[in-house]
Amino acid sequence: MLMRAKLSGTDVRTGGIALHKLQKRYGSAMAVDDVSLSISPGEFISLLGPSGSGKTTTLMMIAGFELPDSGQVLLDGNDITHLPPHRRELGVIFQNYALFPHMTVAENVAYPLRMRRMAKPEVETRVRRVLDQVHLGALASRRPHQMSGGQQQRVAIARALVFDPPVLLLDEPLGALDKKLREHLRGEIKTLHKEVGKTMIYVTHDQDEALAMSDRVAVMHEGRIRQVSAPEDIYRRPADLFVAGFVGEVNFIPAKLLSGIAYGPAGEKLPAAPWPDADRDATVCVRPEHLRLHAKASAAEGVQGHIVGRTFIGDATILEFRADSGLQLTSKVLNISVETTPQIGAACVASWAATDATILTE
Ligand SMILES: Nc1ncnc2c1ncn2[C@@H]1O[C@H](COP(=O)(O)OP(=O)(O)OP(=O)(O)O)[C@@H](O)[C@H]1O
Ligand SMILES: [Mg+2]
Repeated sequence: MLMRAKLSGTDVRTGGIALHKLQKRYGSAMAVDDVSLSISPGEFISLLGPSGSGKTTTLMMIAGFELPDSGQVLLDGNDITHLPPHRRELGVIFQNYALFPHMTVAENVAYPLRMRRMAKPEVETRVRRVLDQVHLGALASRRPHQMSGGQQQRVAIARALVFDPPVLLLDEPLGALDKKLREHLRGEIKTLHKEVGKTMIYVTHDQDEALAMSDRVAVMHEGRIRQVSAPEDIYRRPADLFVAGFVGEVNFIPAKLLSGIAYGPAGEKLPAAPWPDADRDATVCVRPEHLRLHAKASAAEGVQGHIVGRTFIGDATILEFRADSGLQLTSKVLNISVETTPQIGAACVASWAATDATILTE
C-alpha cells in the first residue's frame, strides 16, 4: 500500500486544483500577480505565455518549491499552500529531465517508490507497468547517457507517474527536443493523459503545443492570467490585444465605433458584428486566413489598397497588402486550387466575414 500524505480534511485525491489569489514578488518585480484558477480533476490545462510571464513560478508554487507571498493552493479542497513538496505527492517533470546518471532506467523510475519504502515485488510490478506505458520496457537496463533526449524525457515522465500522483506538473518538458520529436512526444503525452486520466498542468511558451494538447489554455502575461478558455475560444475570441497577438497571427485595424458600425482609418466601413455599446475607439482583429483580397470592381465593403508583397510558402501564399491609408495587412491564402492569387501592384479591396472579426476596446 502506498503511503499518502495525510492532508487535513478529506483524503480523497481526485486531482482537483484551485489557485486562489496567488501572489509572488521577487524584489520589486511581481512574478505572479493575483492568479486565481480552478482546474478540474483529470483536466489537461496549459499555462501559456512569453518568457518571464510567471508560468514556472506559478507551477513551483503548486509543487511546493516556492511559497507565495499571499494566496492559497488547494488540492481537492485541502489547503496545501504551506505543505512541503514531498508531502503533496504531485508528479513534477522538468525540461532538463533531471535523471540520476549513475542509475539505470528501471532504477531511476523505482527511486520514488524506494524513497517511500515500498516492498520490492510491488516496486518491480509498478516499474514494469509504467515503463510499458511510456514504451520503454525494452530499455529498462540502459543508463540515461545511452538514450536519446526523447527517451530520457519519457523516463522522467515514467518516474513522475510511478507513485500514482493525482496531478502531473510539467514545465516545458519538450523544450530541449527538436521540432519533429516534440510533435511526436506531444501526441504521446496526450495519449498518456487519456490513458491515466490524471490532471496535467503543462507549462509552455509554444502556442501550437498549448492549442493542440489542452482542454483549456491559461494565457499569462506579466504575472497575470489574461484569459483562460478552450483552445478554439482563445484563438477565435481573444479577450484582449495581448492574447490576440500572442496566439496566432493577427491583423490589428484601428477603428472608430460610431452608432454600432466600425469605420477604418480612411473612414471606410469595416465588416464586423454590430457594436451594441457607446461610440468609441477600438481595434478590429482579423486573422490572415480570414482576410480576402478581391479585385476592386467585385468588392463592396472593406479596405481599399494594393498588393505590395507575395510569398509562396508551399501550402499557402502570404500576401502583403497596403491600404490607401498606409495601413499594412497580411492575407494567407491556402493553395488549394491552381487559381492564381493577385500579383504585386494589383489594386484590391481587403474584406472578411463580419463573424470573423473581433472588436477589442481596451
Ligand atoms: N528566483 C528568482 N529570483 C528573482 N526573480 C525571479 C526568480 N524566479 C523568477 N524570477 C522572475 O520572475 C518573473 C517570472 O519568472 P518565471 O520563471 O515564472 O517565468 P516563465 O514564464 O516561466 O518564463 P520562461 O518561459 O522564460 O521560463 C521573471 O521576471 C523572472 O525574472
Ligand atoms: Mg519557465
